[in-house]
Amino acid sequence: MLIFLHLLPPEAAHAATIFGLKLGLGPRLKNKSNLRQTLFGKEIRNPIGLSAGADKEAAVLPAWSKMGFGIVEAGTVTLHPRKGNPKPRMWRLPNDAVINWLGLPGRGLDPFIKNLAKFKKHTSRKDVCVGASIASPDGILDEFKILAKAVAPYVDYITLNASCPNVAHEDHAAEDTAAEHIKSAKLGAGRTPVLVKLGPTHDAVALERMVKAALTAGVDGFVATNTVPFTSSDLLAKKTFDWPTHHQKEVGGYSGPQLLQTAMWMVKEIRKHIPASMPVIGVGGIQSGEDAVRMLKSGANAIQLYTGLIAHGPALLNEIAAALPATSAK
Ligand code: FNR
Repeated sequence: MLIFLHLLPPEAAHAATIFGLKLGLGPRLKNKSNLRQTLFGKEIRNPIGLSAGADKEAAVLPAWSKMGFGIVEAGTVTLHPRKGNPKPRMWRLPNDAVINWLGLPGRGLDPFIKNLAKFKKHTSRKDVCVGASIASPDGILDEFKILAKAVAPYVDYITLNASCPNVAHEDHAAEDTAAEHIKSAKLGAGRTPVLVKLGPTHDAVALERMVKAALTAGVDGFVATNTVPFTSSDLLAKKTFDWPTHHQKEVGGYSGPQLLQTAMWMVKEIRKHIPASMPVIGVGGIQSGEDAVRMLKSGANAIQLYTGLIAHGPALLNEIAAALPATSAK
């Protein structure tokens, strides 16, 4: 199956995967009962999450649950339908990596909510933490509030995607912008926790400023990290590929193994500045059980992955579940 999918162009492979999962063709992986833990006050089966972008419309939530994920972050959803960037806009790289320049395409909020509402009644939801990733590509403050208010009744947490490299962001200080967006989302979210997803950096001072601004704005947790844009490509240790271009300009964001070091470093740094009880989700470059264990040891409460699933298929979940230390079964 994986070989067949790898014969298709990446975006077509993704569409085929979602179609197959809708038909119920997804695998059912063994559930280890000794990985149960609590996240956002909810007991979940394991701390292994599907990262945002894999199920942008929350179209196949039961399938991810059946596959064995303990956390599924649906979205990123935008208020209105969007075409995204012109195709091609997703490329497989050697060494199990991907560059995507999708630009947040999707059908907008309404179908997303319908899918979430349907899943809320599903029994397989009870030990899976469901998150919704939201964004306003034009940075319209009210949109964060509207999106958060609409998704809050159906999810366990909301993530503000403050770091998509494929849409324009305003150019005043990043932390001030993020703080405004968090405040707006909090107004709509009610009691549902609001997390912020950060972009990759090795700048400890800028990261500390961002974390402190987010805390002041009332954030409830962090997700680190999003993909690496060309402008931050010095974060990638090895240049094993040519960056795709559009009108002679490099485009897209890198995801894959070279992101792991940065993501782990960011999780450690974020931990230094936040209350011990605050959740941090580590994401970026996790493609093996050992990677997942290292991310948790860096201070993450849970992990998420996406590119590893594209490269290795759902068997990766079993490998990770086998490598994670057991929690005391409740
Ligand atoms: C993404 N990612 C992403 N993130 C996000 O917050 N909202 C989104 O809509 C998307 N869309 C998206 C599409 C594709 C095709 C990829 C590969 C990635 C980023 C993703 O959630 C994750 O942060 C990075 O990919 C790093 O993790 P992995 O893929 O190395 O495990």
